[in-house]
Amino acid sequence: MKAILLIHGPNLNLLGKRDAAHYGGATLEDIEALVKSESEQLGYAMKAFQSNHEGALIDFLQKESPNAAGIIINPGALTHYSYALHDAIADAGLPAVEVHLSDINSREDWRKISVIAPACVAQVRGKKEEGYREAVGMLHSHLSKKT
Ligand code: DQA
Repeated sequence: MKAILLIHGPNLNLLGKRDAAHYGGATLEDIEALVKSESEQLGYAMKAFQSNHEGALIDFLQKESPNAAGIIINPGALTHYSYALHDAIADAGLPAVEVHLSDINSREDWRKISVIAPACVAQVRGKKEEGYREAVGMLHSHLSKKT
């Protein structure tokens, strides 16, 4: 059973304590449990990773992607400037869905830019933790089309 990699970037370990108006009230643990259960219902394992460090996220992608089915990633603020993360996602060669709890398009101008979007098959934003459920579904339909 191949895994969906669920990857979170900087500050997302503090979900539940961050501004609920933007990010909702779910903790990272809640989100990981939700994605695990949605993934397992569709026949995937789930492997979660969070780091506040860009290089650690890239190391995880390089190590785990050869045995994975797809990626769900919320890179936090790295979304807006990490070309290295863009390249790591592209090099993984797996379908990736980018998720943002808040609607990055209706916040500061600098948040409207996602440099990782071109390496992803879809972006879900502004739906708080429910966005992750949608992301698992999107990844699954993408993978089902391919086979
Ligand atoms: C975020 C949006 C980013 O701009 C921000 O830096 C985050 C979280 C979101 O989930 O809405 O940390 O990715």
